Amino acid sequence: MKVGVPKETAAGEARVALVPEVVRKLTAKGFEVAVEPGAGAGSMLSDAVYEDAGATISDDVWSADVVVKVAPPSDAEIAKLGGDTVLIGFLGPLSNPKTTQALADAGTTSFAMEAIPRISRAQSMDALSSQSNVAGYKSVLVATNHLGRFLPMMMTAAGTVPPAKVLVLGAGVAGLQAIATARRLGAQVTGYDVRAAVAEQVQSLGAQFLELQAGKGAEGEGGYARELTDEEKAAQQQELADKIATFDVVITTALVPGRPAPRLVTAQSVKKMKAGSVIVDLAGETGGNCELTEPGETVVRHDVTIVSPLNLPASMAEHSSSLYARNVQSLLELLLGEDGELHLDFDDEIVAGACITRDGEIVHPGAQKTVEAAAPAPEEAS
Ligand SMILES: NC(=O)c1ccc[n+]([C@@H]2O[C@H](COP(=O)([O-])OP(=O)(O)OC[C@H]3O[C@@H](n4cnc5c(N)ncnc54)[C@H](O)[C@@H]3O)[C@@H](O)[C@H]2O)c1
Repeated sequence: MKVGVPKETAAGEARVALVPEVVRKLTAKGFEVAVEPGAGAGSMLSDAVYEDAGATISDDVWSADVVVKVAPPSDAEIAKLGGDTVLIGFLGPLSNPKTTQALADAGTTSFAMEAIPRISRAQSMDALSSQSNVAGYKSVLVATNHLGRFLPMMMTAAGTVPPAKVLVLGAGVAGLQAIATARRLGAQVTGYDVRAAVAEQVQSLGAQFLELQAGKGAEGEGGYARELTDEEKAAQQQELADKIATFDVVITTALVPGRPAPRLVTAQSVKKMKAGSVIVDLAGETGGNCELTEPGETVVRHDVTIVSPLNLPASMAEHSSSLYARNVQSLLELLLGEDGELHLDFDDEIVAGACITRDGEIVHPGAQKTVEAAAPAPEEAS
């Protein structure tokens, strides 16, 4: 069984899908691992350390039995995949219909890390969570970089400075990590989410839970929030507007899977904030939780800095890669039989749930819908 590890080519992608620690474990089990030259460079991992761990450094990674990637493959990369090669990586099944279609057309069997069901047995494979943890942590550091004040209370000979007030909107994986990080830095932290169940988690991190009437208890399926109705959205924005004005930092992480980012912070709310306040919007990829967010940019509006980093995990590539590689290793182990060869058991909930394309077909229902929605209307096509 040969595993190929390409060098990532997407702009700004510094992560790598396998790190030497995991390569060592795989080669000890009899795997052959081929790593493209320079694949680990963005994560400070030289070719030599991969070789020490038992990998071969080679340009021939695309025809391996399994190719493991971080970012979705480009068309050129899909064209290089071997006929029977299985692809594993973030594939954007709900946001990237072109890639899904190209993988189906190429006859590739592909597994998306973000489609792994969030069930207990799959926790060790949950790359969305491992990378969101990094993003949540880093979002606080990004905020502090743009903030002209301390996060902790400071007692100095020149006087006492009160702690900064940080509000985290959305208390899922990234949000809870942002809350924990801001607390560690001494800020006075408040967390908010529409799922009532997270109030206790927010409080257990030493933060206050912000309770709003609008959208309260909007639990959806599978532990996720449901999308709010238009009336609930308007009421939520209204209630939040008054609260937001009192914070120095707002970190937004609200997400309903497969939907545009909920708009929580309106332009009007930004206008009410104190000059010098900072918003870090993690939901830029899906349009942003703040109305004035420009995805991927840092802008100043009404004297408030609004930052929308799109790939924070890549900015901490050493740890992001290391956590991601362990997620990939767990999935690989699930896909293998006792004999160390690939045995794809599509009766397994995780294998079936994560599979996007197989035998020229798009088999993931969400990816299918996304591809259908992106198809040109019949009159456009003709
Ligand atoms: N920019 C980056 O570098 C980066 C990296 C990782 C994740 N992200 C993004 O961060 C966001 C959070 O990711 P996650 O893994 O923590 O997701 P998650 O599903 O664990 O958490 C999202 C939270 O948002 C809450 N939510 C949904 N609708 C809401 C609403 N209307 N009001 C308040 N809360 C609401 C949900 O209840 C949930 O707790 C996503 O948009 C994700 O794409 C960004």
